[in-house]
Amino acid sequence: MVAVHVLNGPNLNLLGTREPATYGAVTLAGVEERLKAKAVAAGVELTFRQTNYEGELVSFIQQAGLAGAGIVINAGAYTHTSVALRDAIKGTEALAIEVHVSNVHAREEFRHHSYMAPVCVGVICGFGVASYDLAFDAIVPLLQKRLAKPAA
Ligand code: DQA
Repeated sequence: MVAVHVLNGPNLNLLGTREPATYGAVTLAGVEERLKAKAVAAGVELTFRQTNYEGELVSFIQQAGLAGAGIVINAGAYTHTSVALRDAIKGTEALAIEVHVSNVHAREEFRHHSYMAPVCVGVICGFGVASYDLAFDAIVPLLQKRLAKPAA
C-alpha cells in the first residue's frame, strides 16, 4: 500500500491564527482533515505530524524515508536554514515534495533559498493550504510508479 507522511515544522501548529493575511484561516487540524479524506479516497495510508524541533523533524523524515513512504514536507523556517533536513531526505532516498502555504518567492529574500528543494522531486508554494492537496495529488502516482518498479 502506498504510504504518505505529511510532515510539518516549526510554527505550523499556529496555522489558522498566525499571520492570517499570509497563511489564511485554516488550522493545521483542518489541513489534516482534508488530507485524511483524500487519502481514504485514494487508498493511501496517511501519517500527519508536526514538530517545532529540528532534530525531531530529521527523525520523522528518516522514519518515512526508510519505510519507503513518500513525504510531503512543510519545514517552515527550517527550509531556509537546515542542511540536516536535506541530508535526511538524501540519505534515506526519500521521495519528497516541499510545500509552503505562502509564495516564499514573493516574500523576503531569506525565504527564497531552500536547502531541501534540490533533493525533492518538486516544490509547491503559494496556493494556501491547497499546496498540501496539490502535493498529495502529485506524490501518489510517483509512489505507485516507484512501487511497481522491481528493486534494482
Ligand atoms: C512557510 C514559509 C516559511 O518561510 C515560513 O518560515 C513558515 C511557513 C509557508 O508555509 O509558507 O513557517 O513554510
